[in-house]
Amino acid sequence: MASFPSFCYIALLISAALVSSAVISSAGNFYQDFDITWGDGRAKILNNGEILTLSLDKASGSGFNSKSEYLFGKIDMQIKLVPGNSAGTVTAYYLRSEEALWDEIDFEFLGNLSGEPYIVHTNVFSQGKGNREQQFYLWFDPTADFHTYSVLWNPQRIIFSVDGTPIREFKNLESIGVPFPKSQPMKIHSSLWNADDWATRGGLVKTDWTQAPFTASYKNFNANACVWSSGSSSCGPNSPSTSGSNNSWLSEELDSASQERLNWVHKNYMIYNYCVDPKRFPQGLPPECTATGTT
Ligand SMILES: *[C@@H]1O[C@H](CO)[C@@H](O)[C@H](O)[C@H]1NC(C)=O
Ligand SMILES: *[C@@H]1O[C@H](CO)[C@@H](O)[C@H](O)[C@H]1NC(C)=O
Repeated sequence: MASFPSFCYIALLISAALVSSAVISSAGNFYQDFDITWGDGRAKILNNGEILTLSLDKASGSGFNSKSEYLFGKIDMQIKLVPGNSAGTVTAYYLRSEEALWDEIDFEFLGNLSGEPYIVHTNVFSQGKGNREQQFYLWFDPTADFHTYSVLWNPQRIIFSVDGTPIREFKNLESIGVPFPKSQPMKIHSSLWNADDWATRGGLVKTDWTQAPFTASYKNFNANACVWSSGSSSCGPNSPSTSGSNNSWLSEELDSASQERLNWVHKNYMIYNYCVDPKRFPQGLPPECTATGTT
């Protein structure tokens, strides 16, 4: 009789293992995919890995980064930004390589007083050089619920999207001498910190520490991406994973409907574009700004 309960127990363990591995492969799990990198307990993984929260108080912010490095990918994250009076706080969500002349693809969310609009700040660095800021308001309250912030990064272009609506495209214009991020693998990073010297109305509105801790939440990470490991890519020609998976994102571009959505965002929600700010570039606008059909 003693063997019967232990057999059941083992069967239960095996089926639990099968169920949990199936769940992990279909949806991102923060334990599996990310490391908390700083904040001394202020960053937390909750609900068996489904949710991650970052928090900020007067003593410290917090942050995490991906365990994997990616060289191209279509990467989605759902984020619910710091609610209420978030003035002075910045929630950064970005990809970045680790070389001295690094590449970087940035989303930064600049908080505001209750009811006043967040700014979504974007930038692209290639080989250590950025200065390509574009800023937007959103067409919804990003603190009321989770919304999906995506980066499509393939060899031809980088597209930033919000809930599937493209807000920015940075094309590969190496043909006219603009360096494009395409050879340095990047990790995904995120952090919540105090930037009240510049973030809200250019630094005029300071963080109200009586509202601390400030909290931003993350869920449903999904990376359709080429993972870089020991000098080779999971999308390489000899990789077994390439044949079975749908890598159409590797050549994805904006179709005409998406281009129209992007134009709608630029017309109604764009508040800053480096390409139309000649006083920042006394030597002339960067070449990607004057090539036709860009910005
Ligand atoms: C905050 O609200 C003010 C007033 O509406 C606005 O000018 C500013 O762009 C908003 N966002 C930030 C991050 O300062
Ligand atoms: C691959 O995915 C794209 C977009 O998600 C879809 O349009 C296409 O039909 C898929 N191709 C295959 C072979 O499944």
